[in-house]
Amino acid sequence: MLIIKTIIRLRSTLDKARAKGQTIGFVPTMGSFHEGHLSLMRQAKKDNDLCVVSIYVNPTQFGPKEDFKKYPRDLRRDSSMILKENIDILFVPSDNEIYSDRYLTYIDVEKISQPLCGHFRPGHFRGVATVVAKLLNIVQPHVMYLGQKDAQQVAVLRTMIQDLNFPVKVEVVATSREQDGLAMSSRNKYLSPKDRQESVVLYKALSSAKAMVESGTSSPAKVKATIKSLIKKESSGKIQYVECVNADTLETLKRFEGRVLIALAVFFGKTRLIDNIVIPQHDSRKIKS
Ligand code: PAJ
Repeated sequence: MLIIKTIIRLRSTLDKARAKGQTIGFVPTMGSFHEGHLSLMRQAKKDNDLCVVSIYVNPTQFGPKEDFKKYPRDLRRDSSMILKENIDILFVPSDNEIYSDRYLTYIDVEKISQPLCGHFRPGHFRGVATVVAKLLNIVQPHVMYLGQKDAQQVAVLRTMIQDLNFPVKVEVVATSREQDGLAMSSRNKYLSPKDRQESVVLYKALSSAKAMVESGTSSPAKVKATIKSLIKKESSGKIQYVECVNADTLETLKRFEGRVLIALAVFFGKTRLIDNIVIPQHDSRKIKS
């Protein structure tokens, strides 16, 4: 595995690969790897000749009161963890490689960045879109791999890619979960043992919501209320939001139809966990309750 720190060296290495006709799969990350990240890399490796992984803790996507400084950074652990994955290139740019002192350009993907996490993390998706646009211009991959865990990130980046004509395909990889259902996240390590135990309620609540929708419940309000009461009953988590939206546009649903996304964010202590579940092509009118 080549570890590359500069844009100029990465570009010249990848130019040679492209000239040989090799396809490039790209996995952007902020490091602190877990099985979820590895599943994206394995998919990228399987589908392409070359797999490029980036680690960059992007300052512009963290709010002033968020955990940018505290975000776990351990390049030695991360690089040894992926050695056996046969990654071809690990790109680890420094801060001034990505944002010079005179940096002025940002990408705002309107509307779709506003609901769900965007409502509570103003500027977050502007930072994500900006850094991913830059990384796509630097790496110029054929395919970029993103996790379903961050459903709004997928929707925002798909929109950006379409609107700005980036010549890249997006592949979305299913959420990797712990055995008890908790979605893997770099932030899970901050949970106290009690919060860790209680956090299983999130996936349990999402799964029962999915079952409710699939068996014909037509009211998103009812489904949201069921999720909230289960979380309150079985944990001390503080709910930030629970929403039922169209999975592609993220518009709020009045009744269940199309591809449905049920997404939530809940605080356990200071740790904010997000999770979601997708119900493919649903039409509540076709189901008799
Ligand atoms: P990060 O949180 O490191 O996540 C990198 C990728 O791993 C994202 O596409 C994310 O959705 C995916 N991922 C995280 N947990 C997952 C899980 N449990 N199962 C499957 N995939 C999972 O997301 C970011 O970094 C940043 O916002 C980034 C896109 C790199 C831009 O800075």
